[in-house]
Amino acid sequence: MSDIEALKQQLGGLQGEALAAFAAAADLDELGELRVRYLGKKGRLTEVLKGVGKLPPEERPAIGQSVNAVKQALAGALQEAEGKLAAEAARLRIEAERVDVTLPGRRRPRGAMHPVHKGLQEMTAIFSQMGFAIAEGPEIEDEFHNFDALNIPPEHPARAMHDTFFIRDMSNAEGEPMLLRTHTSPVQIRAMRRCLEEGEPPLAIVAPGRVYRCDYDVTHSPMFHQVEVFKVDRDMSLAELKGVLQHFLSTYFEKDVPIRLRPHYFPFTEPSAEVDIGCVFCSGSGCRICKHSGWLEVLGSGMIHPNVLAAVGIDTDAYSGFAFGLGVERLVMLKHGIPDLRLFFENDVRFLRRMGA
Ligand code: DAH
Repeated sequence: MSDIEALKQQLGGLQGEALAAFAAAADLDELGELRVRYLGKKGRLTEVLKGVGKLPPEERPAIGQSVNAVKQALAGALQEAEGKLAAEAARLRIEAERVDVTLPGRRRPRGAMHPVHKGLQEMTAIFSQMGFAIAEGPEIEDEFHNFDALNIPPEHPARAMHDTFFIRDMSNAEGEPMLLRTHTSPVQIRAMRRCLEEGEPPLAIVAPGRVYRCDYDVTHSPMFHQVEVFKVDRDMSLAELKGVLQHFLSTYFEKDVPIRLRPHYFPFTEPSAEVDIGCVFCSGSGCRICKHSGWLEVLGSGMIHPNVLAAVGIDTDAYSGFAFGLGVERLVMLKHGIPDLRLFFENDVRFLRRMGA
């Protein structure tokens, strides 16, 4: 075989090999490498061209043409493969970055009011709508407001029953020890005093707030909330007390709940009554929650003891009053069927979410 034929054959083989390689390249990087390998300065085609220099001068133009034709064919094939791979790369990139506008948006969790606070606001609002003014008192109290003025003298057993947190090394101007209030009833004393400074009863107050007792189990927490409600006026009666209770409880539970007043004892009221509602779980037919009595105890109430009115200087011949105090957590638990008081304070978001937070 002459040199020229051998060269032509070489060229043909090279072209076939290169075209197959270009077509098989997986990506643009690989194609770049192939370009260098076949068309680069030290590439395969250059190698073949070296052979051309050894040919006699008259044969060179013909083979030169063949070389150029192969070069062009390779360049064209490269360009085509490049176009294909670039388009494929772009398609993949678009695919990866594609935005599916039909996907639901990512929601940021929204904060909401704690169920106890919500209950407290609902309850306060009901009394507010009945004309009771909202008042607050300090959570750190003295013994006078928390006990003495409420007709609970120092040796009274009710004082021991309150499981009081006393505050070490703290006393008021009279040197009396300070404590965390065990109930919202001291607001009665503060509000009545303020009322007398400005004038005379009538006085109708709703006092929501935190209270503290050294206690912790399924139904007791060392911190809980109460709402204290009271009214001082001429001719106050148990009938008015019962009417206010009936309206409040039916509004809060969003149904006509029957109520009953059971005689009881509180130092600061006389007579005193424990208030029950018809069981909201079994409607009175008897269940585990109401211990088969059909009734649930919800709050304490009574006619304000004359000693309490006298302690602040209200004329007990002219005025009388009624009062009651309720546990907010207990009412929220009954309304929503919550079995354990501690759920309110553990801050497990699953519970708070179920409560609509
Ligand atoms: N202060 C009482 C307590 O925490 C609740 C209470 C009972 C308040 C009777 C009252 C009332 O105003 O009349 O146990």
